[in-house]
Amino acid sequence: MLAGGLSHERDVSLRSGRRVAEALRSSGVEVSVHDVDADLIAALTELRPDLVWPVLHGSSGEDGSVRDVVQLLGLPLLGTGPRASRVAWSKSIAKTLVSRAGLVTPEFVTLPQSLFRELGPARVLSAIVERLGLPVVVKPSRGGSALGVSVVQSPDDLARAMVECFAYGDTALIERAVSGVEVAVSVVDLGDGAVALPPIEIVTDGPYDYDARYNPGRVEYFAPARLSDATRAEVERVALVAHRSLGLTRLSRSDLIVDTEGVVHFLEVNVSPGMTETSLFPQAAEAAGHNLGALYRSLVEASLA
Ligand code: DAL
Ligand code: MG
Repeated sequence: MLAGGLSHERDVSLRSGRRVAEALRSSGVEVSVHDVDADLIAALTELRPDLVWPVLHGSSGEDGSVRDVVQLLGLPLLGTGPRASRVAWSKSIAKTLVSRAGLVTPEFVTLPQSLFRELGPARVLSAIVERLGLPVVVKPSRGGSALGVSVVQSPDDLARAMVECFAYGDTALIERAVSGVEVAVSVVDLGDGAVALPPIEIVTDGPYDYDARYNPGRVEYFAPARLSDATRAEVERVALVAHRSLGLTRLSRSDLIVDTEGVVHFLEVNVSPGMTETSLFPQAAEAAGHNLGALYRSLVEASLA
């Protein structure tokens, strides 16, 4: 298993990796965990594992590059391959592709840092407000764990949000804020096709930011989400369309908002969802009645078949 790495989500990945390794060992799978660094190729060449599971979050883990290395070495990979991973990792590309597949996603613009510098904040900000209105959500187009994400209510806050975003990535994605119920839907494929796990509803007093995500007790989760049967079926359908239309393999988690009219908006999909003690994928698996060790073992077995 690969964990850690040098992305902004290194610590989350180490926590996810520990939890997955423990669960796999409890179900009798032999696991060694490698913290990804410059020795990756040498380590994989020496170890020649039967299967590589990149429990890596953020760049290099989800942008396809580490997955490229695994494939180049001819080693079987658990999960999405490099090309689809690269596509899903870009929120703007993923949103464009899922909307072509018929899903609803909040209207957005992308803005490279170079253009922000060239045009200057005043011009950029007035163009954004004119196009999308306020509030908007500013986030790195490629990023995770809500790092660099801000909800902007007033034009005065937009420049600060852009600067914060550019600390985590060179392209900002600015999308119209949608209010409603935040729901995450995980998908697994144990070899018989992709199925959705129960949706998890996320309820917070403040923002669902990095601290809220990874400190127990800061968020109330409802597993399954408190949705009507029809809306539950719709969020599951949306997650499955996203998983299939982006060519994802074995597991994913789509983050969605159900607006006040009941319309389901796709925000993003994660090819390597968090697996920590407060993360959504393990909660969904347990809500479906899975033992985590047994489920992860089944993912391994399906990937070796
Ligand atoms: N990027 C984090 C790990 C998640 O989506 O769960
Ligand atoms: Mg994410």
